Amino acid sequence: MLRTAVCENLGIEVPIMQAAIWPATSPELVAAVCEAGGLGSIGSVFESAESVGGQMARVRELTDRPFAINHVVPLLDEEAFEATLEAKPAVVSLALGDPGDLVDRVHDTGAKVIHQVHTVEQARRVAGLGVDAIIAQGSEAGGHGARRGRHGAHPPGRRRSGPHTRLGRGRCGRRPGARSGTGAGRPRGERRY
Ligand SMILES: Cc1cc2nc3c(=O)[nH]c(=O)nc-3n(C[C@H](O)[C@H](O)[C@H](O)COP(=O)(O)O)c2cc1C
Repeated sequence: MLRTAVCENLGIEVPIMQAAIWPATSPELVAAVCEAGGLGSIGSVFESAESVGGQMARVRELTDRPFAINHVVPLLDEEAFEATLEAKPAVVSLALGDPGDLVDRVHDTGAKVIHQVHTVEQARRVAGLGVDAIIAQGSEAGGHGARRGRHGAHPPGRRRSGPHTRLGRGRCGRRPGARSGTGAGRPRGERRY
């Protein structure tokens, strides 16, 4: 079975994280991904504190494995975030924007922090804040990404931003100029994520 550094880091069996696609991330889906060895994640954006607490409790009824709860930083609901911290999930994933002191607030509960970035500069910034893993999201991400391909963020981010494990998000486009059918378009080192 494929096992990489991110498995050790997040306490999962296989290096697969279910994307937080709100509002499609039911507790049943999240728990099923966890039971299969990956990291399920609850999409909490636009959810109330009560809903967030209820969804985490339901996931815990279905699995005792680690799961993530996702918050979208520019749309952060402070009450829902507080409810997240109180529930002490294994992982909090953050998306878009600068997480600032949210990283320390999550770490204070003992949870790991994953942050999603789109540029090398963002990767450096969140690495400096001490996140545990970085998601490099591409522009292909269902319209929910930045205007650049994932291959533009991954390899430099891996080399330059520090010893953090990384996850890829979004359909992986070919490197510009890569010939079809040769496999040459795969981002260098992708198998490590
Ligand atoms: C309808 C929709 C809702 C999404 N909601 C969230 C969200 O709440 N939080 C988040 O971090 N990403 C969200 N995303 C981004 C996805 O988690 C993911 O990064 C993106 O879809 C790339 O994966 P894919 O190409 O396999 O779909 C959403 C994407 C879609 C299409």
